[in-house]
Amino acid sequence: MKRHGIKVNNLTKDFKDVRALNEVSFTIEKPGLYGLIGPNAAGKTTLLKCISSLLVPTEGDVFIDNTEVNTKNLTIRSKIGFLPEDSGLYDKLTAKDFLHIMAGMHGLSKDQRKKRVNEVVKYVGIDFSPNKIVRYLSTGQRRLLLFASVLLHNPEILILDESLSGLDPINREQLAQIMRKTAEDKIVLFSSHILSDIWSLCERIFVLKEGDLIVDDHPDSILSRMTDNSYYITTKSNLEEAKKYLEKLDFIDNVKIKGDSIIFQTEAVEKLNTAIAKMMEEFVISSFGPNVPDLDQIFTRLVNAS
Ligand SMILES: Nc1ncnc2c1ncn2[C@@H]1O[C@H](COP(=O)(O)OP(=O)(O)O)[C@@H](O)[C@H]1O
Ligand SMILES: [Mg+2]
Repeated sequence: MKRHGIKVNNLTKDFKDVRALNEVSFTIEKPGLYGLIGPNAAGKTTLLKCISSLLVPTEGDVFIDNTEVNTKNLTIRSKIGFLPEDSGLYDKLTAKDFLHIMAGMHGLSKDQRKKRVNEVVKYVGIDFSPNKIVRYLSTGQRRLLLFASVLLHNPEILILDESLSGLDPINREQLAQIMRKTAEDKIVLFSSHILSDIWSLCERIFVLKEGDLIVDDHPDSILSRMTDNSYYITTKSNLEEAKKYLEKLDFIDNVKIKGDSIIFQTEAVEKLNTAIAKMMEEFVISSFGPNVPDLDQIFTRLVNAS
């Protein structure tokens, strides 16, 4: 079967006088990890719910595998596993019973359920007893269980709302690894309001701001747009003198001291390497490289730039 993935076409969603999404369009065709980022109230949850057929768009449409999504066409739902941000668990059940109930909701027979629950528990690497009562699971364990539950009906597409938010670094890495594995043969689209959560994971990043899709790009090309030929050196020698030295080089511009480093711009990368090697004869240079903005800076610049 040929895949077509997700196609979002001029999607607009209004809640009374609030425009949550404004003519958003994009297509995702290949399996992989896709990150949706934006400040709070940017429209992320609304977009994910429209794709998952839980909200009806005001205008525009969503297609899954070339079939239009609407709240009445429930066959589409079998292709999607949606994990809401505020997903609840049945507190009094065991983890295993919870998975059995969820599998039952997807129409799996008793025998199929048993097989499938065992499969997802193994696949996700649930490292606690499936007989543990849900109420006593840790935050990380709950998130793993919820992730397992959206895999039960083996959907082609996973839509995860803030799935990594609120986890400690160890749990986040554990879940991120499973998401990577899952994304080898499924489309995994997940949202976050924290760029570092999605930056290293995703092959494509979507940025929403006040309902507008302002960026749809690869992390590497976002980064190269952000670095604007900027470099830094740190030196143990006199900063002012090092600054003067750099200013004398005609292919270097905008030399500035920032903290204990010197920041400057150049387009002549090859000349720069030779020049820095020469500079080392006079100055003790402890580090040198492209001046990459940190992720918070990238996020702020992305959101403020448009
Ligand atoms: N059911 C609703 N009724 C009214 N306004 C809503 C509803 N859901 C979302 N909104 C509004 O739509 C905007 C986008 O919300 P949301 O999609 O939840 O953003 P995000 O997930 O990026 O934080 C916000 O201004 C929010 O208040
Ligand atoms: Mg949200």
